[in-house]
Amino acid sequence: MAKYILAIETSCDETSAAVVADGKTVLANEIASQVDLHKIYGGVVPEIASRRHIQNIVPVVEAAVYNSGIELQSLDAVAVTNGPGLVGALLVGLSLAKALAFGLHLPLIGVNHIAAHIYANFLTPRELTFPLLCLVVSGGHTELVLMRGHLQFERLGHTLDDAAGEAFDKIARRLGLGYPGGPAIDRIARQGDSCAFDFPRAYLDEDSLDFSFSGLKSSVINVIHRFEQKGERVPLADIAASFQQAVVDVLVDKTEKAALKYRVKQVCLAGGVAANSALRSHLQHRLLQHGIALSYPAPILCTDNAAMVAAAAYYYLQQGRTAPLSLNAIPGQVICG
Ligand code: KG4
Ligand code: ZN
Repeated sequence: MAKYILAIETSCDETSAAVVADGKTVLANEIASQVDLHKIYGGVVPEIASRRHIQNIVPVVEAAVYNSGIELQSLDAVAVTNGPGLVGALLVGLSLAKALAFGLHLPLIGVNHIAAHIYANFLTPRELTFPLLCLVVSGGHTELVLMRGHLQFERLGHTLDDAAGEAFDKIARRLGLGYPGGPAIDRIARQGDSCAFDFPRAYLDEDSLDFSFSGLKSSVINVIHRFEQKGERVPLADIAASFQQAVVDVLVDKTEKAALKYRVKQVCLAGGVAANSALRSHLQHRLLQHGIALSYPAPILCTDNAAMVAAAAYYYLQQGRTAPLSLNAIPGQVICG
């Protein structure tokens, strides 16, 4: 008998609900994006995000259940992201998930948001085997995670300052490209020269698998400032392409190093920045030289969505890792096995 999980995701600025069968088949994945609402502020405003989640959450869940064709009575569990994320935003999803689990007498599953991003790869047709190396690059996180089995996470490295997506968003904002900045930089970089500016790459200690993007960000902002001071036209495409290349080089080099060190045969990309075309192609090319396969989700499954939460929740359920109704939001939750 197939297991049907209803999942809810409200950790940042997307209100999403999904129904997934056996952690693999997406029956419905509704996403109400708040991007237009936050655009004018140049980034996500937490209080506004929470309020909009409250308005969106019930219709989004109703639409997911209706579109899945699955009766509420046929569900096997209710899953929800309980961290990391914005606390007010997380609490909206959590409250409805608890109410549904209680009312329908279903198990409740609290899912780590980073784990959910990784499990978006299990929604792709490619079979994944362990050990698996995962590069999670989103607006809030940049992490290298080794998985030796389902839900067994070993954090090998993380960013010491800005997340990769955060750096994309901040540079895009400074270039006047709008929010979210990642897709805008990805687009405009295609018309630019990635060697036009030699921006710094932070490799930290020789063996370090940690990341740092704040020095790169400052350096790019200084270059933009110099053009403006001289009253010269800012070469948007060249700066975007060179900045993107600097981020991609560090991500690719460190992922390659970790893949070889831990002798993995498969790597998966996850998080919003996994939608970046330069990152996908450069990482694929580099890993192929070692016979290592790269997996990445479809763009819609890279950014925040509830299908990935349901995919991870399937394995939580299999392992009996259900949560009590006292489950709380943990805004700074780290990924661990
Ligand atoms: O995973 P996500 O939806 O939210 C978080 O959990 O943070 O990721 C959003 C981030 C934003 O910073 C956005 O600019 C970035 O992913 N992003 C991209 C691309 N698409 C989204 N960054 C670079 N290239 C893209 N194509
Ligand atoms: Zn995310």
